Amino acid sequence: MIVVPGDKSISHRALMFAALGGGRSRVRGLLRSADVHSTAGVLRALGVAIPDLDAPEVAVTGVGLRGLRAPAGALDCGNSGTTTRLMAGVVAGAGVTARFEGDASLSKRPMRRVARPLEAMGARIELPPHGGLPMTVHGAPLHGVTWHSEVASAQVKSALLLAGLVADVPVEVHEPAATRDHTERMLRARGVDVRTEELAVTLVPGGRLDALDMDVPGDPSSAAFFAGLAAIGAAREVAMPNVGINPGRIGAFAVLRRMGAQVRFDDAAEQGGEPVATVVAAPGTLRGTVIAPEEVPSLIDELPLLACVAARAEGETRVTGAEELRVKESDRIAAVVANLRAVGVDAEELPDGFVVRGSDRPLAGRVTTHLDHRIAMAFGVLGAAAGNAITIDDPSVCAVSYPAFWDDLARVRLG
Ligand code: S3P
Repeated sequence: MIVVPGDKSISHRALMFAALGGGRSRVRGLLRSADVHSTAGVLRALGVAIPDLDAPEVAVTGVGLRGLRAPAGALDCGNSGTTTRLMAGVVAGAGVTARFEGDASLSKRPMRRVARPLEAMGARIELPPHGGLPMTVHGAPLHGVTWHSEVASAQVKSALLLAGLVADVPVEVHEPAATRDHTERMLRARGVDVRTEELAVTLVPGGRLDALDMDVPGDPSSAAFFAGLAAIGAAREVAMPNVGINPGRIGAFAVLRRMGAQVRFDDAAEQGGEPVATVVAAPGTLRGTVIAPEEVPSLIDELPLLACVAARAEGETRVTGAEELRVKESDRIAAVVANLRAVGVDAEELPDGFVVRGSDRPLAGRVTTHLDHRIAMAFGVLGAAAGNAITIDDPSVCAVSYPAFWDDLARVRLG
């Protein structure tokens, strides 16, 4: 059995909403990883007393929607895109001025996707010519917006909803495809009027955000690594209790099933407004599959892992419509394909995806992680299969989302 750590997306939001809420919030099961520490640090710099995250229950006294103060120095977002983009919305809404900085990976990632709609709401934002960090948001009063986003991004959607919430103005966001809806669920549970109609989400201002008391479910993106490990036969049956099975997050489990692995959801329940279950995964005879563009938002973070599973499947696996992978913690299309080839797998890049031809021959070589936690963990799974000898240049990058990953892997892997 593996108890996967708390959901990263929900942990960021839980801290932000606790900080901005009225009264005292309580959060249990928070992910304690570098990315979540980045959010805590940014909130502290904006004047919120966020305690040490190590306690089993983290209690935060919110400063209220109008309570943030201008930071004394730059906001260090580390490796975390979610911290940067969601907090850009919060800071713009609060009308304070702040400069966002990050590590070498984050500094390269596209920020115009949040800057442009926030500017359309009245914010003034300075970006370097390459459109990444450092980004300075200058405080200004905001007005409402209707925005048609070109990218299917929960971070962009959430940034706009949070800007509207904090500035108390209406926001309507249209997405090209449905993305994870944690922000909408969590705001609704705190008394905020958020409406969803097909691909449009509307926030009706109400000046209210109630305190929260919640248990964060386990992260399906972390659980996917162990489902993949079982799928390739590098573990026997693995059971992971209390994993979030939000429909916007579970595409990878469906793909693993389609490839021939056994994956089931037992004891389905609800926790903190999110569906949860015990995810149980076991080996099967794997064959390649086609991952279609419309599936991509529900498994975007799991594609490096699925590529590594495809390397042990019979036949070809083809992914298209996943150009967003090029602007994640690394260019994940280039990184996945180069690393697969480095260990002996037949793989090729597509502009918006990749093709992997699986085999059962032994794989060996060295993987370059490019400061990308999911590249490290995906190849850690592939390296755990019998007969493979794969080394990872920087295994410590898993601390971004799953600090105990290597210990958990060592516990359940066979051999
Ligand atoms: C996230 C949204 C996704 C995802 C990221 C977390 C979130 O990013 O890849 O790991 O918490 O909203 P995009 O919004 O860029 O697709």
